Amino acid sequence: MRFDIITVLPALLESPFAHSILQRAKKKGLTEIYVHNLRDYADNKHKNVDDYPYGGGSGMVMSIGPFAACIGKLKEERHYDEVIFMTPDGEVLTQTAANQLSSLKNVIILCGHYKGIDQRIRDLFVTREISIGDYVLSGGELPAAVLVDAIVRLLPGVLSDETSALSDSFQGELLDAPVYTRPANWNGLEVPPVLLSGNQAAIDNWRHERALERTRERRPDLLE
Ligand code: ADE
Repeated sequence: MRFDIITVLPALLESPFAHSILQRAKKKGLTEIYVHNLRDYADNKHKNVDDYPYGGGSGMVMSIGPFAACIGKLKEERHYDEVIFMTPDGEVLTQTAANQLSSLKNVIILCGHYKGIDQRIRDLFVTREISIGDYVLSGGELPAAVLVDAIVRLLPGVLSDETSALSDSFQGELLDAPVYTRPANWNGLEVPPVLLSGNQAAIDNWRHERALERTRERRPDLLE
């Protein structure tokens, strides 16, 4: 799957994709992630990509020209399944949405800044608007990294244990049960004995009960 991310802060997106699972996915050729500097598409000598809002008010608004130029160039090269705009007023990202997006081939992601982006960009180019939660960040870069991570780990072959994405919290209807590793006793804090019992049916049953308990306590909405 290919991602083209358009941003005024490309440096913010260097590190998230250079480590661990995402880096491995790129090396294996399972995903390609390209970051485009919106300023390279500015049509003025100061490389400005924003301007004052019509009608007045505080904050600058990102202009349509540079986005149109960058998206236009990308679309000349290949077909894109979605053009996603990261915004706090979009649909809230869920595991279901990540699953669905992971079946796509080419996706453009737009990162906004300042007070917002000219509405005409949204009307003309954007096919989906996604929020990563009901809080406001200073730009769309971190949300874009969150979205890409949530999608890439679902691509076939990315996780070494193919079942581990399937057992994630939210992938089923329950949160995950607690997990433990060695030592079995740390300063008197013991691992639940059933996990050391070797009785797989009992372990599965314990995990299911703990998952239910945790979901009931923390996210009863998931059980409704
Ligand atoms: N940009 C700023 N805040 C955001 C959020 N919560 N989700 C997506 N994009 C954003």
